[in-house]
Amino acid sequence: MSRIVLGVTGGVAAYKAVMLASRLRQSGHDVDVVLTPAAEAFLAPLSFSAVTNRRAYTDEGRFAADGQIVHVALAQGADLVVVAPATADFLAKAAHGIADGLLSTLLLAATCPVLLCPAMEDDMWAHPATQRAVALLRADGRALMQPAEGHLASGRRGAGRLPEPDAIAAEIERMLHPHDLSGVRLLVTAGPTREHIDPVRFVSNGSTGRMGIAVAQAARRAGAEVTLVIGPTELSVPDGVERVAVTSAAEMLDAVQRRFLEAHAFVATAAVADLRPREQFGRKVKKAEIGLEVAMERTEDILAWAGANRAPGQVLVGFAAETGDVASEARRKLLEKHCDLIVANDIGEPGSGFAVDTNRCLFVSREGERQVGPTSKREVGEEIVAFVAGRLGKR
Ligand code: CTP
Repeated sequence: MSRIVLGVTGGVAAYKAVMLASRLRQSGHDVDVVLTPAAEAFLAPLSFSAVTNRRAYTDEGRFAADGQIVHVALAQGADLVVVAPATADFLAKAAHGIADGLLSTLLLAATCPVLLCPAMEDDMWAHPATQRAVALLRADGRALMQPAEGHLASGRRGAGRLPEPDAIAAEIERMLHPHDLSGVRLLVTAGPTREHIDPVRFVSNGSTGRMGIAVAQAARRAGAEVTLVIGPTELSVPDGVERVAVTSAAEMLDAVQRRFLEAHAFVATAAVADLRPREQFGRKVKKAEIGLEVAMERTEDILAWAGANRAPGQVLVGFAAETGDVASEARRKLLEKHCDLIVANDIGEPGSGFAVDTNRCLFVSREGERQVGPTSKREVGEEIVAFVAGRLGKR
């Protein structure tokens, strides 16, 4: 069993932290609770010590009389630090390393995994200042849960609620017991492709490669050897992941074909352009020469090729970007492309699809279907890696 530090900051969702502390205790963990002064305005330390059977810490006990440096002792002994709820104020401070209380100081001293669970009004969550802080924290390797949708303290509805204690506890268990994909070779496609008419004009789409990068990162964290075949994107590839940069669908297919046989699993997140100009010019064509109709032809379907050529035991995951009947289209693609899993998302929904950090997906396999999210693409990446690990008989 693990030692968990649960930081509680001052938001109306703080009452859920008592349930979370109790839930973690019932799972056999030792839980040290640290309240900020603002959290104390909502709840008494006693609420926590009663469910954890341990002392709950506040800023008052920051400098212990016995000479122990409390924040260091708590941070060093912890297997995981979780802050739930994490207010906008706390995220902004944590992003900049401001250490003005026991919890913020402890966070700086912690070398174990850290999970932050924001909760606030949706407008505060969406504010660029908060999103800047979130980006900085993620870049520092902090895990953040996506706030849940629903009723907010203001009486409005929106994305800003603290996720339910069970969901937070499940995330904690996953972080404490990551999958082990050592020895597994994973091939991932990501980003858009560009089908050039001439050196300056092309047919493409708005994919950024974020989803594929999230899958690569999750798999890398689990110890897999990851190759990312990625179309043109501004985003950088995670450390330790082999990057194969391509431009067109034909180049992407070629890169995949060269590496497919040795891969244990293939995850196709790329938004491959379906059409390419039949004729491609090596020089910039004058607009008068192009005409109003450009003859097109289909590109290769890379995932379909992989499905037709898969070896026994190989795991195949595809995506489906849909605007209509998401579930039935996903089932069709699952069978037609011989996949183990199709991750379908409704790109017509706000907060899902291209160039955003969140996704709401339907996981469709032969065994059935289940909704994942709305949550971060990082989370979706983790879920896909968990599926692959399960299929490969890995923990
Ligand atoms: N895909 C691929 N090569 C293509 C087209 C798609 O590998 N030329 C893969 C994508 O990476 C994704 C899956 O196939 O994993 C489904 O892509 P999607 O664009 O949703 O579907 P299409 O097969 O193009 O079908 P449709 O346009 O009919 O929805």
